Amino acid sequence: MNQKIIPVLSFVTILGLSACSEQDKANNNQAKTPQGPVAAIHKSMQPVAPVKRWYSEAQVARGKVLFQQNCAKCHKPDASGDPNWKQVNAEGKLPPPPLNGTAHAWHHPLPLLQQIVRRGGIPMGGSMPAFADKLSAEQINDILAWVQSHWPDAIYAKWAQMTAQAARKTG
Ligand code: HEC
Repeated sequence: MNQKIIPVLSFVTILGLSACSEQDKANNNQAKTPQGPVAAIHKSMQPVAPVKRWYSEAQVARGKVLFQQNCAKCHKPDASGDPNWKQVNAEGKLPPPPLNGTAHAWHHPLPLLQQIVRRGGIPMGGSMPAFADKLSAEQINDILAWVQSHWPDAIYAKWAQMTAQAARKTG
């Protein structure tokens, strides 16, 4: 029993650590059928229920409205962002990225996502405005709930694990 559990755990840890530079690879792999050691691990595991989400349907419904009012003009009504989000524009700024689980946003634990929305990107040389004066902490959470409702279960599971690791580090 233990012998089986240990390789599965280390595999999960590796997935959790496959940070930003691995992001495109991870996204591409998602669509493919796993092969080799990955397939073996999958076979050895019972079907896994999707990770339980931290938010409620009511939060998602409120967040949908707030996102359209505050974020959609830049990040697009469906949170798909600017197709050229990786390329600096004429003003030397990055365009608004997708928030729908296809880009980078899912690499940020919840407290960092909240902070990005509160402070915006201007202090870090970006162009996203701060929302601390416009939205309450609860409204920001509602918006993030709606954003995260677009993330597939596999992406959400990796994000949840990373968020838990970050919480352990900061104590
Ligand atoms: C004026 C355009 C604009 C508006 C409005 C805006 N954003 Fe952004 N957002 C950006 C840009 C541009 C970036 C990239 C970083 C930067 O330049 O500040 C960004 C980055 C982000 C990131 C980080 C994504 C990543 O991949 O690291 C998150 C999360 C985010 N925005 C959420 C929101 C939410 C939620 C709202 C609404 C409350 C919002 N944004 C409103 C332009 C905008």
